Amino acid sequence: MSGPGGDVVIVGGGIVGCACAYELAKRGAKAVLLEYGTTGMQATNAAAGMLAPLTETHEPGPMLEAGVRALRAYPRLIDELRAACGFDLELRLDGILKVAFDDEQAATLRRRYAWQRELGFPLEWLDGATCRELEPRLSADVVAGVFSPGEGSVSNQMVALALARAAAAHGAVIHQHAGVRSFVRRDGRVTGVRAADTTHACDAVVLAAGARSGQLAARMGTDLPVRPVRGQMIALGGMRTPVRHIVWGPDGYLVPRANGIVFAGATVEEVGFRRRTTAAGVRGLRAMASALVPQLRAATVHFAWAGLRPGSADGLPMIGPLPGYTNAFAATGHFRNGILLGPLTGVLVADGLLSGDWGAVPAAFAPARFAAMPALA
Ligand code: GLY
Repeated sequence: MSGPGGDVVIVGGGIVGCACAYELAKRGAKAVLLEYGTTGMQATNAAAGMLAPLTETHEPGPMLEAGVRALRAYPRLIDELRAACGFDLELRLDGILKVAFDDEQAATLRRRYAWQRELGFPLEWLDGATCRELEPRLSADVVAGVFSPGEGSVSNQMVALALARAAAAHGAVIHQHAGVRSFVRRDGRVTGVRAADTTHACDAVVLAAGARSGQLAARMGTDLPVRPVRGQMIALGGMRTPVRHIVWGPDGYLVPRANGIVFAGATVEEVGFRRRTTAAGVRGLRAMASALVPQLRAATVHFAWAGLRPGSADGLPMIGPLPGYTNAFAATGHFRNGILLGPLTGVLVADGLLSGDWGAVPAAFAPARFAAMPALA
C-alpha cells in the first residue's frame, strides 16, 4: 500500500462513509469514521434500497455508466458481506416495471426505452394487459410499461450495517455521536478533525457526510455545493404480496421488501434541513400507491419516515480531491443513487486515495468542477 500511513478520517457514517471505511480498512489503511448520529440512520435509512441505474437515469453518460458498473458489482459485495457478517442483505435483482397511465406518459417511457435498448440493455416494452400479467394487482388504468429485468433492490439498512461491521472487523475505528465541529488545517493539508471533545489527527480526510457535506466543506474554507432534498417514505403492510416486483409510476414507486411490507416513496422537496414527515407528504404517497395498485387503499401505514438526499448542482456526485487541499477528498452528492453508488464510491475512494491516481473516477464527478462556481444558497 502507498498513500497515507497515518489515519484516514472519514466524516459521515452513511452507506458512502461506511463503504469508504470498509474498502480502506480492507486494503490495510487506518480508517477512522466519525458519525454525528448513528451509522446508517440518516439518508441511508430513508431509502427504499433500489438498485436502478436505468430507471433513475434520464440520459446516457457517466451517471448511467457508473450506475451500471455499481449494479454489476453488487452481487459480489453482497456475497462478501454475507460471509463476513452472517446475515441476509435481501438482494433481489428480479426487475423493475415502469408504467404509464396515458399516451403522453407512454411516449416519455418509449423515448427512454428506445435509447436504452439502442445501448443494448435488455428492456421489454409491454402493453397494459401484459403489465397486469406480470403484476396482477396493477391498476386497470395502466396503458403500457417497460420491464427492466436486471434491476432490483437490497436492504439499504442491512448493507450499511454490514459495511460498518465488516469495516470494524478489518480494524476501522467507528465513533458514533461524534459530530465534527472543525478542521485543523496547515499548508493546504487537514492535519486534524475536531469532533465532540477529541481532535483526531489525520493524514487524510474524506467528506462523506451526505447533505451536510457542503456545510462541513465550508468549515474547511472550500465550496462543495451540496443541498438537502427531502424524501418522505411510507411502509405499507397488511396485505399478502401486493406487488411482486418494484413498480415505478410517474409520481413514485413501490418496492416490495421482506415480510410482505411495501415501501412507497418518495417525495422530492427542497425544504432545507427539515427532516420530518408531513401529513400532506404521507397523504400524497398513499394516493400514489393506490393509483398504482388500487388494493393498497386498504393497506396499513406501518410507519413513515424521511431523509435528506445530497443533491448537487448538476445532479452528479462529487468524488475525489477537494480543491485547495492535498489530502482532503469528497465522496458525496449521490442524490437519488446513494445506495446504488455507495459501495462503488468506497472502492473508488480507497483506490484513489491509496494510489494517488484518481483516473478511475469519471472526470465529470471531480469536485474541482465547482471550484469556479458560486456556492448554492
Ligand atoms: N432513489 C429513489 C429516491 O431517491 O427517491
